[in-house]
Amino acid sequence: MTLTLDRPVCSALLPVIGADTLVPLIDGRQVTYANLDGAASAPALASVARRVNEVLPLYASVHRGAGYLSQVSTALYEQARAQIGRFVGARPDDVTIVVRNTTDALNLLAGVVPGRVLVLDGEHHANLLPWVHARRGAHATTVLPVQPTVAATLENLAAELAVGCYALVAVTGASNVTGEALPIPEVVALAHRWGARVVVDGAQLVPHRGFSLAETDADYVAFSGHKTYAPFGAGALVGRRDWLDTGTAYLAGGGAVRDVRTDRTLWQAGPARHEAGSPNVLGAVALAQACDDLAGLPAGALAAHEPLLRERLLTGLATLPAVRVARLWPDSGEPVGVVTFAVDGYDPGLVAAYLAAEHGIGVRDGRFCAHPLLAHLGLDAGAVRASVGVGTTSQDVDRLIDGLTALLEHGPAAHYVIVDGCWAVADDPRPLPQVPGLDHLEPTAAAACGPALP
Ligand code: ALA
Repeated sequence: MTLTLDRPVCSALLPVIGADTLVPLIDGRQVTYANLDGAASAPALASVARRVNEVLPLYASVHRGAGYLSQVSTALYEQARAQIGRFVGARPDDVTIVVRNTTDALNLLAGVVPGRVLVLDGEHHANLLPWVHARRGAHATTVLPVQPTVAATLENLAAELAVGCYALVAVTGASNVTGEALPIPEVVALAHRWGARVVVDGAQLVPHRGFSLAETDADYVAFSGHKTYAPFGAGALVGRRDWLDTGTAYLAGGGAVRDVRTDRTLWQAGPARHEAGSPNVLGAVALAQACDDLAGLPAGALAAHEPLLRERLLTGLATLPAVRVARLWPDSGEPVGVVTFAVDGYDPGLVAAYLAAEHGIGVRDGRFCAHPLLAHLGLDAGAVRASVGVGTTSQDVDRLIDGLTALLEHGPAAHYVIVDGCWAVADDPRPLPQVPGLDHLEPTAAAACGPALP
């Protein structure tokens, strides 16, 4: 059965690289890849790829050279920093630090917070482990369990803030598992009332909705380029200057210092303090381009695209009684385009392998680097996650629903086995693409996921 949803067709909002890439199926056909895994890593915007190519001939050492191209590269890097900060509503005195990704940004911040941290147990590990592992003793962290509703979770936060004397509340802008979120302005108001600052894990929120420090009054935001359509190795931490100017340098090395003797070091203030080593100019330029393009979309376009696709996905999933969609907070505001579900009778890894091998669809399965949350949701055995972004079309969503419908009606066509902890097609006939670097692998390696990643 093919499901036809009586809903408006949604095309891509911005062109992405790979939208036309063909992938092989086990029956010998080739289909365009339906990438429903942007929450893990999003494809590059076409404009980002163009920008990187444009800037490559100008690339030279940054902050270190008198050469003409060094000066140009330094200017491009600093300009990119300003663009990235502007995209997340940086205030005039905020600092924008170019890091590798959200995990890097939050680990950096964990090293400079001058007091206790409060975090919920529903966070991605990137916004949980830096606080619980890097911060022991006087600056210890309290992990608060999420409650069944947004309202109850806010009440719990308020009660803890009233008694706990916290320097920082670390909160997700949108869950990487359910897409749901607490209302950030309310969290900020609560935290500020008790003298605590707020850092927003913007990994899922920033690319999918945009975010503004100035408008929400949040103190810091962390996000990743590879989820913001700029997979060139840069992300950002943006926020209040004082802790960052005086806290321990995140990386010790060249560029982070004003003067060094063997018995003492004078550190820089500002972003340089935390950006030792040669900065990732191309990553920053790529991320800045993506930020500008997202900011340049017509008003409301980003906020409208995903809810349409998410609604289409949920409507389709609701027609399949064997599918259970995970919800954290039924009273959450508009969630971003991330939907996690379990399929009764099927291991999530098998569902994901089947969707790839028999339908050319990319989803993520497992526990999504959010183990306490998955346990809370009763999904300790993992689940399947589909996520949408600016390159997703309604056709991609319909293919997922059709694929799941076929699975539940007929079962998989191929035989699947577990290889190194991952589900794979037995005797996978799919060829590898003709790309240098893959020529030494057996064709079946295309289906294996390498070491099991939870
Ligand atoms: N943090 C990424 C995810 O949720 C990798 O999939």
